[in-house]
Amino acid sequence: EKVREFQETFLTWYDEEKRWLPWRVSKEPYGIWVSEIMLQQTQVATVIPYYERFMEWFPTVADLAAAPEERLLKAWEGLGYYSRVRNMQFAARQIMDEFGGNFPQTVKELKKLKGIGPYTAGAIASISFDAPEPAVDGNVMRVFSRLFGIKQDIAKSGTLKFFDFVVRHVISHDAPGDMNQATMDLGASLCTPTSPQCSSCPLKNYCLANREGTQENYPVKSKK
Ligand code: ADE
Repeated sequence: EKVREFQETFLTWYDEEKRWLPWRVSKEPYGIWVSEIMLQQTQVATVIPYYERFMEWFPTVADLAAAPEERLLKAWEGLGYYSRVRNMQFAARQIMDEFGGNFPQTVKELKKLKGIGPYTAGAIASISFDAPEPAVDGNVMRVFSRLFGIKQDIAKSGTLKFFDFVVRHVISHDAPGDMNQATMDLGASLCTPTSPQCSSCPLKNYCLANREGTQENYPVKSKK
């Protein structure tokens, strides 16, 4: 029906248009995790060389757990927000000590790791383990608010849960990781905050904001 057609359209677009990114070569969770943490406060183009070097220096969870602090901070120099990499090493030690060296696979278990919240847990569970879990960040809220005309205030804390609920209902169970990454790519390329390129959008026929010409009214965000 309609949801299925929407998923197929979106996934076909992703297959054709997806960016080549070093963390898309393997679904192995360690690399996905490193990329998602780096991408939280840093742009894709900046992250790429840092990601490649980090994976060379610390190729496994065990390597990260055992890394000398000095080398860890050196690997992160220039990225900022050093708590991110400190938390990652703490979490790597949790994986070694509490999970027997096996990367947790479910959102519930992933959230037990230091520095992993709902977004990162959903990204890893969907991309690495094919779980139909949403991974909602600001870009995802922008895309879905336009698509469905969602007027909930994204500055309010409960709104993330609402988007999580919406995405959960339309996410592909065949390729959830691809669907989450398709949303990220769409938000980065066409469904941009200002002047979105709706005429090129694979979802234009499904999009309420495009139909109404109200793209720039979304997402709704109050000033505090
Ligand atoms: N931003 C956050 N996660 C991403 C991913 N997996 N691919 C591209 N951009 C992203």
